[in-house]
Amino acid sequence: GAPVSVDITHLEAGQKLTVAWRGKPVWVVKRTPEMIASLDKVSGDLRDPGSDQKQQPDYAKNESRAIKPEILVMVGSCTHLGCSPTFRPDHPAPEVDANWQGGFYCPCHGSKFDLAGRVYKGVPAPLNLVVPPHRYVDNNTILVG
Ligand code: FES
Repeated sequence: GAPVSVDITHLEAGQKLTVAWRGKPVWVVKRTPEMIASLDKVSGDLRDPGSDQKQQPDYAKNESRAIKPEILVMVGSCTHLGCSPTFRPDHPAPEVDANWQGGFYCPCHGSKFDLAGRVYKGVPAPLNLVVPPHRYVDNNTILVG
């Protein structure tokens, strides 16, 4: 499939937008400084905090899993059976987890991911959410694919 251009000029901090790429939803989230700070607090609860598992671009192998820490680009499909996780940036969310710092929650079988799409231990999803290949054309334009 052809690469998809995403204009993030009007994406506000804390918001998520969705584009379609190869029939899949791709999310772009603009993280606030608080969201970025939350990543450090949950590392011990995650299955693969450094994103060392397969099929991740090199620029996803860091705590924020991003080229720019404030911008997260990710495929919006659960790595368990492909449901669409819900964006739950709110903190706290006790019905998700007592220590919830915000992230993504899959309602199908209860998989939890942090605000970098990193999967928590002890849930059905085996892998972090997928970061698709992408690059910046300019400050406000991302080419996915
Ligand atoms: Fe997401 Fe099963 S499809 S937890």
